[in-house]
Amino acid sequence: MANSPSPESSASGTVTSTSSAVQIRNLNYSFGLGDLTKQVLFDINLDLPRGQIVIMTGPSGSGKTTLLTLIGALRTTHEGSLQVLDQEIVGLSRRRLVSVRRQIGFIFQAHNLFASLTASQNVEMAVELQGQYGTKRSQSVEILSELGLSDRVDYKPDSLSGGQKQRVAIARALVNQPPLILADEPTAALDKKSGRDVVTLMQKLAKEENRTILMVTHDNRILDVADRIINLVDGRLESDDTLDTFVSTHDPKSLDRRMFIM
Ligand SMILES: Nc1ncnc2c1ncn2[C@@H]1O[C@H](COP(=O)(O)OP(=O)(O)O)[C@@H](O)[C@H]1O
Ligand SMILES: [Mg+2]
Repeated sequence: MANSPSPESSASGTVTSTSSAVQIRNLNYSFGLGDLTKQVLFDINLDLPRGQIVIMTGPSGSGKTTLLTLIGALRTTHEGSLQVLDQEIVGLSRRRLVSVRRQIGFIFQAHNLFASLTASQNVEMAVELQGQYGTKRSQSVEILSELGLSDRVDYKPDSLSGGQKQRVAIARALVNQPPLILADEPTAALDKKSGRDVVTLMQKLAKEENRTILMVTHDNRILDVADRIINLVDGRLESDDTLDTFVSTHDPKSLDRRMFIM
């Protein structure tokens, strides 16, 4: 339920069951210590039901990437509650954070491919982390093909275009079929057609396989895939709209200037 009350949970990592893939309550986050503390997220409350694609927009510096990395258990906070895939991750041990992280597909702007490995080997590494050695090549080739890279499987990153590299990184994030996918500007480096292919695939994953996708984007060509659009401004969640409401209440010109700038 989108607005169900927070179930019982504790900082010791109690497993609870909700229909949300992500449930955030009263989350605050600050960088730095002492006099240099800078709060960047303020009292965030958010539910991401399973099977939804939620797009997050907001001006540069508003805290979008910070929020994604918190949800992805890549950084920790001590204030508020953050349940990810039925696990309270506020206060969780490092070891258990790693196991939460393994269930999440990350697509970040810097694609961090290994230069000495081919496209397929980069994807296969992710499969190996799950211990699936026997099928790693076939799984990798299948997802690369779905992303339009069947003829680039054995190329190294140096011989791929920016958009192709980004699609390899996307394949790597999706190959283990994570129930939760966190994407930070996944289409920024892609041309119109590749960008569309990527979001079409994400839409298929969400609808046919009940995956939950939270995607930061300034790309107004792909807003239509969203079930919901949330807007983060100065560290506060400002609105939570359906696409229709969002479009009808935001002036496209100001959107272009304010929201769709990196
Ligand atoms: N590692 C960091 N240390 C200190 N401040 C940071 C760090 N990363 C981000 N910030 C600051 O936190 C705020 C939010 O950043 P970020 O989450 O990257 O915003 P967005 O992704 O919306 O552009 C910005 O003011 C940024 O300067
Ligand atoms: Mg960012």
